[in-house]
Amino acid sequence: MQALPSLGVPADQVLAEIAALRAGDLPTHGGRLFAYVYDPGESGVEELALAAHAMGAPVNGLDPTAFPSLLAMENAVVGAASALLGGGPDGVGSVVGNLTSGGTESLILAVKAARDAHPSTSPTLVTPSTAHPAFAKAASYLRVRPVVVPVSATTLRPSPMDIAAAVTDDTVLVACSAPSYAHGVVDPVPQIAAAALARGVRCHVDACFGGWTLPYLRRLGVPVPSFDFSVPGVTSVSVDLHKYGYCPKGVSVLLHRDESLRAPQYFAFADWPGYTMVNPTIASTRSGGPIAAAYATLRYLGDAGYLRLAAAAVSAVRSLASAISTVDGLRLMVEPESTVVVFTSSDPALDLFVLADELAARGWHTQPQLAYADLPRTIHLTVTAAVEPQVPGFRSDLAAAVAAARASGPVSVDAGLLEFAAALTPDQLTTETVAALASGLGFSLDASASSGSPLPERRADINTLVEAASIPVREALFGAFLSLLQRPTY
Ligand SMILES: Cc1ncc(COP(=O)(O)O)c(C=O)c1O
Repeated sequence: MQALPSLGVPADQVLAEIAALRAGDLPTHGGRLFAYVYDPGESGVEELALAAHAMGAPVNGLDPTAFPSLLAMENAVVGAASALLGGGPDGVGSVVGNLTSGGTESLILAVKAARDAHPSTSPTLVTPSTAHPAFAKAASYLRVRPVVVPVSATTLRPSPMDIAAAVTDDTVLVACSAPSYAHGVVDPVPQIAAAALARGVRCHVDACFGGWTLPYLRRLGVPVPSFDFSVPGVTSVSVDLHKYGYCPKGVSVLLHRDESLRAPQYFAFADWPGYTMVNPTIASTRSGGPIAAAYATLRYLGDAGYLRLAAAAVSAVRSLASAISTVDGLRLMVEPESTVVVFTSSDPALDLFVLADELAARGWHTQPQLAYADLPRTIHLTVTAAVEPQVPGFRSDLAAAVAAARASGPVSVDAGLLEFAAALTPDQLTTETVAALASGLGFSLDASASSGSPLPERRADINTLVEAASIPVREALFGAFLSLLQRPTY
């Protein structure tokens, strides 16, 4: 594939090429992909958002005084998020916020603001082990030491006492999730925030994943614990609009309880001969596309639309959970509290990774999660509104997939290879070793191949092998593998 031909290519042809490439992707619509995408399953929503995206895209969020349309839309969207999450006229009136490019950027900025407000030579960030990896990334980028508190293997939540014990004079931020991505459970926010408040430390609630849905679930009668600015001690909250806000990708909201807490988030620079730069976010030039698309989506769906979509998602969650819990050999990790269904196998003859392959073979793309600490391997389902009409099909295919997984039995990976994986150290992972390992496992590393996943269709052996490796090796392996894929084509 060549991106820069000597002569330009007609528009129709270019679009046809992209369509051909997109045909090799997982299905972004239709409720059969339980991760990565958030599909409202209603026509009209995405069409409008993309039209608005096109209107906003030429505009630069770098300077909202030059493009007041973006300032107006951003402030309106932040206001909506604030009002939903305990701020605004009926809540904590001082809440302020910004739109960022996504959950990771919101979390990095929350950590940056906290770090810069709390000078320490060895700053720490306290999180439960279920906190999203974006916190580890923030800690790594910002040179803050992560202090990770384990969660209970039964509740999948940390003990607030353990969190409190992890806070020291060097702690700049305590963070927790509402809900966590891996299991969809809401951490004990009031107790965690109280522990932070008692030490004068900021507390961030990562509601990136489900923060837009939880208030609607509560209105639908689901018992949702307190998690937002109504909780004393919560100093910032993040919520992603490109998840359950059902907006096109590239938009999240970071809210602070008041302006003084937000102040260290800004970066301003005047010490050069060019324009004075001031940015609330990591990016300087920001496309207006995602902002306009988010504004349009919120206006179009309205409160009633989000309530309707939350009702569809929760109905799908309940039906999926009941379908799974009636299968002999499968066990829900936790009764669903939000829009995640996560389950494990209680029968050694039923290999969860083989089951994931069998489901994929039937067009259901789930997310296998590797065993970690004292938690078993699981299958994660992010459930959106678009899943609801698909549940009957999933139920019958699940039965067939389970039967097939039982019939083929657990995946057999050579014991020597498993031992090799377990004994590996990251420094042994040269590019050559990883390339050999990847092609041995059936990966396609040909950078010029233009469509389809580079991974083989059946992945149970790969998951088993990676699971056998240590955490640092898992990380190094994935990094090296991605680096092998990310090679220029000419
Ligand atoms: C709870 C939580 N926080 C943060 C993130 C990071 O969001 P993003 O992928 O938009 O950077 C995610 C993504 O799934 C998440 O689930």
